[in-house]
Amino acid sequence: MAGYGYEDALETLSFIKKFIQYPPKTAIVAGSGLADIADLVEDSVTLYAKDIPNWPGSTAPGHAGRIILGRIHGRPVIFFQGRVHYYEGYTMKAVTFPTRIIGMLGVREYIATNASGSINTSYAAGEIVALKDHINLMGSNPLIGINVNEWNERFPDMTHAYDPDMLSIFSEIGLKQGVYAAMSGPSFETPAEIRMLGILGADLVGMSTVPEVIAANAMGMKVAGLSCVANMAAGIHPDHRLTAQEVLEVGSQAAVKLAEIITTLIDRLNQKQNQE
Ligand code: HPA
Repeated sequence: MAGYGYEDALETLSFIKKFIQYPPKTAIVAGSGLADIADLVEDSVTLYAKDIPNWPGSTAPGHAGRIILGRIHGRPVIFFQGRVHYYEGYTMKAVTFPTRIIGMLGVREYIATNASGSINTSYAAGEIVALKDHINLMGSNPLIGINVNEWNERFPDMTHAYDPDMLSIFSEIGLKQGVYAAMSGPSFETPAEIRMLGILGADLVGMSTVPEVIAANAMGMKVAGLSCVANMAAGIHPDHRLTAQEVLEVGSQAAVKLAEIITTLIDRLNQKQNQE
């Protein structure tokens, strides 16, 4: 069984490298119900999680394990459909193993998408909100353990966990920005927990993304987080019960909007690169 360490990553990396035509500059990770963004990828090669050595396979609904290599508007990308979650019983090292591979491939920008519950009542279901910061309440951190110096320093800075340049692009196109609180799940939160998270300064709540964002920052990647509000968080509409079904449905309705945002971001990154 893979321990999701550095040696495992080298083996996985050499397998994936065989399929790479265009060394990826940008990674996109699709969250619940958001996998249709895969259709954006041109000249694509698809790999399946089950065929990749050491790859953690997802057990969550709406998370088919696929990696798509190719380009979006000419920019070489690696697209992941099917992240694994802490609540599935994976260790933090397993959850962030794909992030490590992305970093080792030399990717510069890591774009994480997810579905979340909204604590902030000025957001509506189906809206896409850019993450400006996070609060890690999962009770663990992917960097715990003996430090892998090839991957990151012991105490990485997280002051700009979400890249200010990409955030200003999101502002220009009219996206709201919010703070994402990460809970372990898999039960949804109670209304009291949601009130607590609001007092702590969170606008959104979810069960993913933060471990990857920590690992990606630690490896020096620039990170963007885009969250699709799937539902108002528990207790905001007291008679509304939360279901995974609703999360997937709202996510797939919002996927077109998300795809537009991602292509706009990619165009801006291409322009910026041409100016360099
Ligand atoms: N809570 C936690 N995670 C979520 C939610 C929620 O309300 N909606 C989608 N993911």
